[in-house]
Amino acid sequence: MIDQKVHTLLTDSRMILVCGPGGVGKTTSAAALGVLAAQTTDKRVLVLTVDPARRLATALGLQALGNAEVPVLIEGSRGSLTMAMIDTKASWDDMIRRHAPDVATRDKVLANELYRTLTSRFVHSHDYVVTERLFEARESGKYDLVIVDTPPSRSALSVLDAPRRMQQFFSSRLLKLLTAPAQSRVLSLASRPFFIVADRILGARFLADIAEFFTLFRTMEQPVVDRARRVGELLAHSETRYLVVSSAEPVALREADYLVRELRRRSHQLAVVLLNRLIPMRLATGAAQRAERLAMSSDTSVPALAQAEQTMAAAALQEAAQVAVVMSWGADVLYCETQEGDITDIAALAHLGTSISSTPRTYDGAVTDKNGD
Ligand SMILES: Nc1ncnc2c1ncn2[C@@H]1O[C@H](COP(=O)(O)OP(=O)(O)OP(=O)(O)O)[C@@H](O)[C@H]1O
Ligand SMILES: [Mg+2]
Repeated sequence: MIDQKVHTLLTDSRMILVCGPGGVGKTTSAAALGVLAAQTTDKRVLVLTVDPARRLATALGLQALGNAEVPVLIEGSRGSLTMAMIDTKASWDDMIRRHAPDVATRDKVLANELYRTLTSRFVHSHDYVVTERLFEARESGKYDLVIVDTPPSRSALSVLDAPRRMQQFFSSRLLKLLTAPAQSRVLSLASRPFFIVADRILGARFLADIAEFFTLFRTMEQPVVDRARRVGELLAHSETRYLVVSSAEPVALREADYLVRELRRRSHQLAVVLLNRLIPMRLATGAAQRAERLAMSSDTSVPALAQAEQTMAAAALQEAAQVAVVMSWGADVLYCETQEGDITDIAALAHLGTSISSTPRTYDGAVTDKNGD
């Protein structure tokens, strides 16, 4: 059984960006929603993921490197599911291949040492390619729904800002300064005395590489800026929904709250907040009463059990308070309990997906007045 709100989310969206604080289950939920969408709709679904846990990646047939799109077989599904990992370096290379004005420029950029360092080592180099991949997937016409997993919290915002930053980069004075003196004579800049001395300190060709890289990169200004603008439009499109995942931990919720506000400020379509890893209701319900009953029992093995039930009741009380806070944000809320065992295969993902529910949680009997102070 699939929750009605979850079903609506999966049918109405063409793009779902899953974001949230670190370690709360973004990658897992993105994959679980992908499985669910393939099972319950007739859509061709792509899940673009960033950093699946190794065992999950292996189970899904994803390789550690490369951008390959891997079909995932789901028995009896109406739609189809494809998974792909976003490999930053490979994605940049693809982008250069796409936008380079000619083969010579392309090869020079790809071989440029600075380019290789920038694209493989810098964290933010990831942000832009995520949006590029998204756009590519969308443009390819091969998918009806693209679910995108993002790296933790603030960098989800930095992903959203990436297209604009790319546009700004091309119009920046720094870039003009770096490339203006020798647009056509790339190496003349690098042959100036300053560069020659600096080269000796920083290593052969380093600064020459800088000048060469920026000059070559500028030849792609038009297509890249154009693309960045369209990618930006896609992120703001009404069929692009944002799903903020969080646990009910106060620290995670603070970050999630910040994300929700920022998404609203940018007028993005916040779809829902998914509260993940909640205490299973079967454990929370009645915990306080059970603790009281146990406390009155004469059985000698009971104190430890009573203590455990009391701890559970206290945790449930705290969780109930946090959930109430999230409900005051004014967004739709989905709930997902902590599942037993590792989530490392399709069956576990499918199970997790169907367990996501929009039914408000009642923590009845988790607390008594005594625990309430
Ligand atoms: N509902 C759940 N029940 C049980 N385990 C879960 C649940 N959701 C996620 N997990 C587990 O929590 C761990 C972290 O999940 P995941 O990798 O999806 O988080 P993430 O938000 O993508 O992390 P990161 O910010 O590091 O990318 C994984 O081991 C995953 O199996
Ligand atoms: Mg992740």
